[in-house]
Amino acid sequence: MKLLKLTSLFLFSILITSCSKKESEIDKSAQQFALLVNDAEIANKIPRTLTAEGEMHWTNPKFDWTEGFFPGSCWYLFEATKDQKWQKAAEKFQAQFESHKLRTNNHDLGFVFNCSYGNGYRLTKNESFKQVMITSAESLSTRFNPNVGCIKSWDVTGGWQATRGWKYPVIIDNMMNLELLFEVSKLTGNDKYKNIAITHANTTLKNHFREDNSSVHVVDYDPETGEVRNKHTAQGFAHTSAWARGQAWGLYGYTVCYRYTKDEKYLKQAEKIAKFITEYKGTPEDGIPYWDYSAPNIPNEPRDVSAAAVTVSALIELDGFSKNTYKPAIDKIMTSLASEKYTAKLGENKHFLLKHSVGSIPHGAEIDVPLNYADYYYLEALVRLKK
Ligand code: GLY
Repeated sequence: MKLLKLTSLFLFSILITSCSKKESEIDKSAQQFALLVNDAEIANKIPRTLTAEGEMHWTNPKFDWTEGFFPGSCWYLFEATKDQKWQKAAEKFQAQFESHKLRTNNHDLGFVFNCSYGNGYRLTKNESFKQVMITSAESLSTRFNPNVGCIKSWDVTGGWQATRGWKYPVIIDNMMNLELLFEVSKLTGNDKYKNIAITHANTTLKNHFREDNSSVHVVDYDPETGEVRNKHTAQGFAHTSAWARGQAWGLYGYTVCYRYTKDEKYLKQAEKIAKFITEYKGTPEDGIPYWDYSAPNIPNEPRDVSAAAVTVSALIELDGFSKNTYKPAIDKIMTSLASEKYTAKLGENKHFLLKHSVGSIPHGAEIDVPLNYADYYYLEALVRLKK
């Protein structure tokens, strides 16, 4: 009896310590992020990353796939602290891109609107936010082609995407746009969006994954027949390599698919991806992956903190669904992210939270810099752990 009491006391004190650790990481993040919001207020722009020279790089006001993450981070800080100043900031900055809900030439509407207006609606039930979500889901749905069974990721009529010979490229990242569709079906009772999401997830499951449970970045389809034309990369090291953030997007995406459908095949897929990531032999001891699992000059390759942040947030949710435990991997990654190696000191890093992410090495863009989505998924992970 005495032993039982002692054990319970011990477990309780571990729980209290770990909760207050999360609290203090949220407090620390809130202090730093308040400085970033102040910078954004002055410029009236949304922070994205830093240039190679260490200057602020704001999102492109015409459209930027990362524009939803900054207000989304404010929503998570509002959720964690209940301080109205975060709600005010989130509403102000998401309003800057509301008109993008009508765009049909980009698949990133799920990222943009679910992370901003989606979190806003979840926390406030503001009816006008719901309307924005519905309109953006409608716009996203126009990119679905039933011959292929997928939403088209990139248009190939211009830019660097036009130089690759693709007809209908679908990237693993696109799994992240499905949450908006599932959510809008739930909110409206209209299954159209959910059915598109399910078909996209099934086609991706069939064509994007390899024997070792890693995924290809880009699968290019024939838009008439739905046949696979190419399996390529855009942001990874090679067509056959495993781009780190791509693996994280897949893990997160299939975990979300399971959350909404309770279809076991999605849970199994998420578990397989988690196995690839967490058991990968070449990942450094601190659990923060190199930008590509098969980058050629490991250990002299940049890490990608954004991949780690997306991965850990997904693992926290998956841990709640799966019979497997992901706690050791979660603890390891969260401890690393909170360490001085990856978390900026107050007032440094131009007020972003995390350092050492990678946007796209093949494009020579955003290498070893802070990224607004690394901060977003880190805050999401802190809030998920606090819950
Ligand atoms: N397409 C989003 C990314 O760079 O991960």
